[in-house]
Amino acid sequence: MRKVSLTARLTAYFVLSSVAVLLGLGLVLASAMEAHFAEEDFAALSQDMTIVRHTVESTDAARLPTQLGEFVAMRPHLDLEVRRVDGAALYRSAGFDTHGQDIRPDTRTNWSVDGTVYRGWRENASTLGGTTPVTITLVMNTFIHTHFLHAYQRTLAVYIAIAALLTGLFGWWSARRGTLPLRSIAAKAREVTASNLHGRMPVDGIPGEVADLAHTLNGMLDRLKRDFDRLSAFSTDLAHEMRTPITNLMTNTEVVLGKPRAEEVYREALVSNVEELQRMSRMVSDMLYLAKVENELTLPTREKVDLAGEVSALFDFYDAVAEDEQVALSVHGAATIDGDRLMIRRALGNLLSNAIRHTPEGGHIDVSLERLGDSVAVHVDNDGAPIPDAILPHVFERFTRLDHEGRRPGQDNAGLGLAITRAIAVAHGGDIFVARHGERTRFTLSLPAA
Ligand SMILES: Nc1ncnc2c1ncn2[C@@H]1O[C@H](COP(=O)(O)OP(=O)(O)O)[C@@H](O)[C@H]1O
Ligand SMILES: [Mg+2]
Repeated sequence: MRKVSLTARLTAYFVLSSVAVLLGLGLVLASAMEAHFAEEDFAALSQDMTIVRHTVESTDAARLPTQLGEFVAMRPHLDLEVRRVDGAALYRSAGFDTHGQDIRPDTRTNWSVDGTVYRGWRENASTLGGTTPVTITLVMNTFIHTHFLHAYQRTLAVYIAIAALLTGLFGWWSARRGTLPLRSIAAKAREVTASNLHGRMPVDGIPGEVADLAHTLNGMLDRLKRDFDRLSAFSTDLAHEMRTPITNLMTNTEVVLGKPRAEEVYREALVSNVEELQRMSRMVSDMLYLAKVENELTLPTREKVDLAGEVSALFDFYDAVAEDEQVALSVHGAATIDGDRLMIRRALGNLLSNAIRHTPEGGHIDVSLERLGDSVAVHVDNDGAPIPDAILPHVFERFTRLDHEGRRPGQDNAGLGLAITRAIAVAHGGDIFVARHGERTRFTLSLPAA
């Protein structure tokens, strides 16, 4: 289907509705006028009839035609016939013609011939002295009214044409004006590109219906911008984090290749390269996992997860390390949530590995499970130095990590653990917090209870 512009449509509606309204009004007026004319005409006919009857009843037969002739002569629109009931006409004006119409006594009769309307009125009477019963018939030619009505119709047609033109112009103008905000929005929208998500649709001084659209589009742009910023921050971070290890790898390798060396040296270099590559590979898969958790709208699976059971399983896993470090592990309480078991295990594992890494020899790690209203809190408390104020507000952001006291050497993590843990909490409809309780650090994972 061809697209008709909004302006053209509105203009057409304006023209059509004004023509319809004016035409209707004109027709109503015309029919009122016609009814009014008919009323007046029959009133005049009845008056004339009274005169004619009086003349017929009071004039002798010899003078009657002259008298009636004079009467008709003064009324060019009127014709008259006086006829005996038994047939012969006593008087008939020259133009008298009923066009074969059956005019019954005392009944308003209208007919039209070639667009001219005639009105007839007939009464019974009798001649002077009551000797002869007669029928008097008056026929009125309404040519004057018809003429007037035709002139009225012509005027009306011209008026409607002019009015249609004017309302069309007005409709076009107001439609153009009305759609101006839409066109300014379209113009703004054309300026939006991936690198220019800053522009916003104009919302001031714009009619409500369009302002809604503008607000909706602005909301969409906000979301797009946020997602786009996140995406570009993500790739920037990734590139930034990869640059140093790649440079190190390259330099080390070039140094080793710089001159012939003993086989032992090559082996050592390769081993250190593999370690570095493994670290990078881990970081890349953590980044991918984080991106997946942050962008997925639903959990991969959803089942009842017994948190105490998961913590115990993790304790089994970390037992050897904890024993090495002489760190004691304990869990209190019980709680169940609805969630993805693997994700929950990964979140708890990240908190536990951090705790173990930051707890000094002989320290304690306590996990406690607590139900608070319709959510479950998992506290992971560990002894050890506090998180420095410099990084505290950012601990849950990716790549936030610090070599501070209490951290064991040789373990260089990427700083993605807490970011992943928070993303998992958020994906479950929960959140994560950190606080300092006396000499202990407490991470609290809050999740909706099952
Ligand atoms: N239990 C804790 N005690 C003290 N500092 C912690 C603890 N957990 C995390 N941190 C600090 O938060 C930083 C970010 O943690 P995380 O995101 O797991 O990264 P990573 O473990 O790779 O360093 C760590 O580098 C550390 O400085
Ligand atoms: Mg960690």
